[in-house]
Amino acid sequence: MAAELDLVLRGGTLVLPWGEAVGDVAVRGGRIVGLGTVDGHAAEEIDCRGLHVLPGLIDSHVHLREPGDASVETIETGTRAAVLGGLVAVFDMPNTNPSITDVARLDWKRDHLKGRAWCDMGLYVGATKANIAGLAELEAQPNVCAIKVFAGSSTGDLLVEDDESLERVMRAGRRRICYHSEDEYRLQARKPAYSSGMPHRMHAEWRDVECAFLGTRRLMALARKTGRPAHILHVSTAEELDYLRDHRDLATVEVLLNHLTQTDEAYDRLGGYAVMNPPIRDARHLEAAWRAVADGTVDTVGSDHAPHSRAAKERPWPDCGAGLTGVQTLVPLMLDHVSAGRLSLSRLADLMCAGPARVYGVVGKGRMAAGYDADFTVVDMKRVRTIEESWIASPCGWTPFAGHRCTGWPVMTIIRGTVAMREDEVQGTPGGAPVRFGR
Ligand code: DOR
Repeated sequence: MAAELDLVLRGGTLVLPWGEAVGDVAVRGGRIVGLGTVDGHAAEEIDCRGLHVLPGLIDSHVHLREPGDASVETIETGTRAAVLGGLVAVFDMPNTNPSITDVARLDWKRDHLKGRAWCDMGLYVGATKANIAGLAELEAQPNVCAIKVFAGSSTGDLLVEDDESLERVMRAGRRRICYHSEDEYRLQARKPAYSSGMPHRMHAEWRDVECAFLGTRRLMALARKTGRPAHILHVSTAEELDYLRDHRDLATVEVLLNHLTQTDEAYDRLGGYAVMNPPIRDARHLEAAWRAVADGTVDTVGSDHAPHSRAAKERPWPDCGAGLTGVQTLVPLMLDHVSAGRLSLSRLADLMCAGPARVYGVVGKGRMAAGYDADFTVVDMKRVRTIEESWIASPCGWTPFAGHRCTGWPVMTIIRGTVAMREDEVQGTPGGAPVRFGR
């Protein structure tokens, strides 16, 4: 008898948008065609009893560095890491070398990912003071998740720091803009107070709470003036979270796994491997970030996966590269937070699936429902496993979370009906496709 279905996932606990239920999922042609009790005959059946079937989780904030330094990361290695870590899609930042700031470079990247990416990819485009006139056209290109504005300087050469230019960016186009929000003037004014070789914890003093809070107040004042929706990336302070609660008509909020997991003790333990922008801060901010997860202020959680070479990380502060790897460890660590009772699996799916879909306008993905892409992250909440550096697929080869014991682990990544990872092995060939977005 010919199979009428391509795949059935049998008997897992489905984490559906409307709650958890034990049941089956039927897949045909890369899409979900049935949920609940599935009777049909399938070419492939996967026993999911005892496992949770989550909608395919998305990391909406990664830096895969291509074009750039292949000894640190590429699209192939970064997406391999993503599927090993249970992700079905990543949204890739534009601060590469060169940066993705025009249609030709965007077209290059979209072509280049085909046959190389193991998971699906959304593509950011970068704003510069020179490309403002072309931003409306650029954000309307296929597979663009958003314009990214670095309003404070970080890795790479993207920077739009002054109010006049920021307002012009906001008046060019109409989709939600993503911001790196640290006030560049305050960053530069404070820099001379610090010198090479000072302790790494000075990073959080230099790029202090007011740097981030002032950056966000300035951006939201301009967003209010222009009416342009904003997604404030990696919100790292209690002050910003309180403030943004009063701006939810315009603002959506990203918090990073790092800011939910690490505090400033990490500087003494990890040195340069704790340095990122905006910085890891004290426990007051971590607690505020969890309260913001609990009360719905946070829309998305991402990794801000930002690989640098070991040599770059081991330079004295502040010359060490800023940014931490995380695409492969995001799901295991979030599952560990679920196991510790900090959030539910439903809220995790909301933050890493429905949230990205809502904020970026994903089409046909990001929801476990009939007709949507058959994307699943299958997890074993009983699995206890320690994160080891030998597991890391990124060529830079390190993780700030080595030695962290996780309860809960992704055991299968299924993308548009095809198993991309099963029990730590990537399957087949890189089949990732560009993600579609509404405009
Ligand atoms: O720590 C960071 N690293 N923050 C950023 O904004 C950029 C990133 C990178 O690309 O290295």
